[in-house]
Amino acid sequence: MLEIRDLHSFYGEAHVVQGASLTVRDGEVVALLGRNGMGKTSLIRSVMGLSAPQVRQGSVAWKGEVLTGMKSHEIAGRKIALVPQGRRLFPSLTVTEHLTMIKSARARNGWTVDRVMELFPRLAERRQHRGNQLSGGERQMLAVARALMIDPELILMDEPSEGLAPVMVQHLEGIIARLKEAGLAILLVEQNLYSALAVADRVYVIETGKIVHEADASALVDNPQSLIRFLGVH
Ligand SMILES: Nc1ncnc2c1ncn2[C@@H]1O[C@H](COP(=O)(O)OP(=O)(O)O)[C@@H](O)[C@H]1O
Ligand SMILES: [Mg+2]
Repeated sequence: MLEIRDLHSFYGEAHVVQGASLTVRDGEVVALLGRNGMGKTSLIRSVMGLSAPQVRQGSVAWKGEVLTGMKSHEIAGRKIALVPQGRRLFPSLTVTEHLTMIKSARARNGWTVDRVMELFPRLAERRQHRGNQLSGGERQMLAVARALMIDPELILMDEPSEGLAPVMVQHLEGIIARLKEAGLAILLVEQNLYSALAVADRVYVIETGKIVHEADASALVDNPQSLIRFLGVH
């Protein structure tokens, strides 16, 4: 279980995460919703122990162990993977190279390149394509595939559907469902409410660095109005 408690993070003096608390239970898909600039990426980066923003108060714990203060590679070593916003691939590396450059020391029974390729047949057909030769959807698949190579138990996905055509968004929803079936926990940052509701067990809404709403997704599918109020979408 991931437990974020009263987290406060800053870029310099800019207080961007303002006491956020959030939980992701084992095997659960949790969506973090919020408009642009509300602090979703800052919260995710704080969990991963990235250099900015700086966490100044509160805690992040994973399986009871406090992650706050650890370096990001130490956090990744605890089987927490990040799919960063904007994919962050290498334009000149091939699909295979992206997947083999990360090797988990402990990936005995876990994800191999072949198992990942089964999940992403489009990538299997494009093994020798370079990052800059892939479509937006293929890039996002590769970003998820790369995250799987550390054999994670928890994946933090920062707006994976951003910029994707509706058919690719649906495909991605299917991938998330399969990862959940495989037992992974997922914290999914989304701006697309309907995509989030299609895959999530629970949702949180963040507004200027604070969690302002929490709900079971099942309670919202037929009645998303309460969330629309927070998100300013239609
Ligand atoms: N590197 C940065 N330096 C300073 N301020 C930043 C930086 N990145 C984001 N911010 C600010 O932090 C706030 C939250 O941003 P962010 O976490 O990226 O929001 P979201 O992911 O929800 O769109 C915004 O006001 C944004 O302008
Ligand atoms: Mg963001």
